[in-house]
Amino acid sequence: MRAIAFKEIGGPEVLRPVELPTPEPGPGEVLIRVSYAGVNYGEVQHRLGDFGAPEGETVTGLEVSGTVAATGAGVTGLEAGAEVAAYLPDGGGYAQYALAPASFVFPLAGPALDLRTAGAAPLVLTTAYGVLSGAGRIAPGDTVLVHAAAGGVGSAAAQLARTLGAAAVYGTVSTPEKARYARRFGYDDVFLRDGFAEAVAEATSGRGVDLVLDPVGGPTRLASLEVLAPFGRVAVYGEAARHPDLTLPVLSLWKNNRVLTGYNIGDLARRAPETLRRHAVAALAQAASGAVRIDITAEYDLADAAQAHQVLESGGNMGKAVLRVRS
Ligand SMILES: NC(=O)c1ccc[n+]([C@@H]2O[C@H](COP(=O)([O-])OP(=O)(O)OC[C@H]3O[C@@H](n4cnc5c(N)ncnc54)[C@H](OP(=O)(O)O)[C@@H]3O)[C@@H](O)[C@H]2O)c1
Repeated sequence: MRAIAFKEIGGPEVLRPVELPTPEPGPGEVLIRVSYAGVNYGEVQHRLGDFGAPEGETVTGLEVSGTVAATGAGVTGLEAGAEVAAYLPDGGGYAQYALAPASFVFPLAGPALDLRTAGAAPLVLTTAYGVLSGAGRIAPGDTVLVHAAAGGVGSAAAQLARTLGAAAVYGTVSTPEKARYARRFGYDDVFLRDGFAEAVAEATSGRGVDLVLDPVGGPTRLASLEVLAPFGRVAVYGEAARHPDLTLPVLSLWKNNRVLTGYNIGDLARRAPETLRRHAVAALAQAASGAVRIDITAEYDLADAAQAHQVLESGGNMGKAVLRVRS
């Protein structure tokens, strides 16, 4: 099968077309004939070596849509030919065929989730739902601040926050153009990240917010702790700015009634797959009903994956990009 792989860490140019054997599904696994693969910042970090060095030809790609090609022993309810979306905890999505654990394969239901949109849904929606509800413990009436508000996870999280009862949702982005774009996702307001603490204080009359979703890190993370209302949570779920890790004084949590929490989908896939599946099913249902919209702003041929990575790595993306593998 045709795939895009890398065997050394580096810039987008290390992504190269390769021919690999089509994988065979083991017990509990599903082989998917891929239609679309979502392009995610985690895959950029994978290629950059943030999660370790590759061992041989490595195919990244954490989410796909397609049709069921074959199933391994013990898999029920997923017939060959069925249209599905899947989260791939071990990657492999930038290829004509990909393997997924059956528990993370979701039959498509409802016209709002066609194959193209579904290719950009399972990782993004599950993460947005999980960071809001699992890590962030969102409650009806909460005020939420979403960093990287115009991005894939951010734009989904803003919409999901409403369906989970948020009273107000604010966002931060790096440029005025992104602020204008992000407003279509229902934010009450979108601020430039530079100086966002003052803007949040003004928007909330000094109270602060109940929940911050932070995939950025560094100074943004530190400033986010300062904009929390009492018992407010900063939910850490990424490190897009690739700053060195922080060392935080715990006493400031005590003295200011603050909570710092974290979300990692790969850890959940290993240690709490049923929880992860529950989050995925709940989030995908919101997309299938049309309550949450994934805005696909760029579509590339699988062979042009490096170009998609270049845009995402430079922070130039808005909404969501997909790779077209088979249309
Ligand atoms: N923990 C998990 O399980 C999990 C799962 C999925 C995704 N994630 C994380 O969620 C975040 C969003 O993922 P996504 O795929 O939806 O990406 P995305 O938000 O569509 O794109 C990444 C965004 O990060 C922001 N950013 C901040 N500093 C940056 C820098 N130095 N270089 C490039 N971008 C920078 C940019 O937004 P601005 O221009 O607004 O700054 C950029 O658009 C990523 O951090 C990703 O690792 C975590």
